[in-house]
Amino acid sequence: MSLLSITRMQTNIGQYAVLHDVTLEVPEGGVFVLLGRNGAGKTTTLRSIMGMWRPSPGSVILRGQDITALHTADIAQLGIAFVPEDMGIFGSLTVEENLILATKSGQFDQTRLQRIYTLFPAIEKFWTKQAWSLSGGQKQMLSVARAIIEPRDLILIDEPTKGLAPSIVDAMADAFAEIAETTTILLVEQNFQFAKRLGRDMAVIDDGRIVHAGTMADFVADQDLQDRLLSLSA
Ligand SMILES: Nc1ncnc2c1ncn2[C@@H]1O[C@H](COP(=O)(O)OP(=O)(O)OP(=O)(O)O)[C@@H](O)[C@H]1O
Ligand SMILES: [Mg+2]
Repeated sequence: MSLLSITRMQTNIGQYAVLHDVTLEVPEGGVFVLLGRNGAGKTTTLRSIMGMWRPSPGSVILRGQDITALHTADIAQLGIAFVPEDMGIFGSLTVEENLILATKSGQFDQTRLQRIYTLFPAIEKFWTKQAWSLSGGQKQMLSVARAIIEPRDLILIDEPTKGLAPSIVDAMADAFAEIAETTTILLVEQNFQFAKRLGRDMAVIDDGRIVHAGTMADFVADQDLQDRLLSLSA
């Protein structure tokens, strides 16, 4: 059974049909990559999973439970975290306060916190600093840290490498690979170099439809397919 099954999801935003037919099977463990050009429907797919847009028709099933009609807070309680494109952190709060707000109990599990310090040393270094003063890469790391401060089954991450320097992107890839050993990641990307380093399974969305799904290894080995599908996302 897949961790997350999305079947024939359609999402309208106002009068516009944005997702026409999104079917995805996200297995448990590792990184699942969703690729697609600007405006293809990647963010809308993640927001629809989180209950921020209401798909109709279509279904979203987490570990066999239908979550399609649940509220976002209830979906989060069931173990899905969302790292949005704008990172969703509070600039006027400190790194510590940003993380405390992401806990359920208002207290840190020290083992998890130590793991976050190891993954992202900047979190410990800038613990008392206001989040606005962090670099772009450090803000992105804080945003991911908020998502893993509680145990999760699945983390949805929207274009985390956008605008980041290559050295930061490398550090991010190492951290994501480690996180994915214990937590499934559904990663939306346009950076194919980053995505192919991490992805085990993948899909391509274009114009609100999944136009390809398979393993990353097969996709990387098939230059014609890449040329055809990634020219969509050029
Ligand atoms: N709030 C909204 N109101 C109206 N149209 C929207 C809204 N959000 C998204 N859209 C439209 O839906 C389509 C898909 O948008 P979406 O943000 O899901 O794309 P994306 O693949 O995440 O693109 P990007 O790579 O630019 O982030 C686009 O045509 C976009 O203009
Ligand atoms: Mg987007």
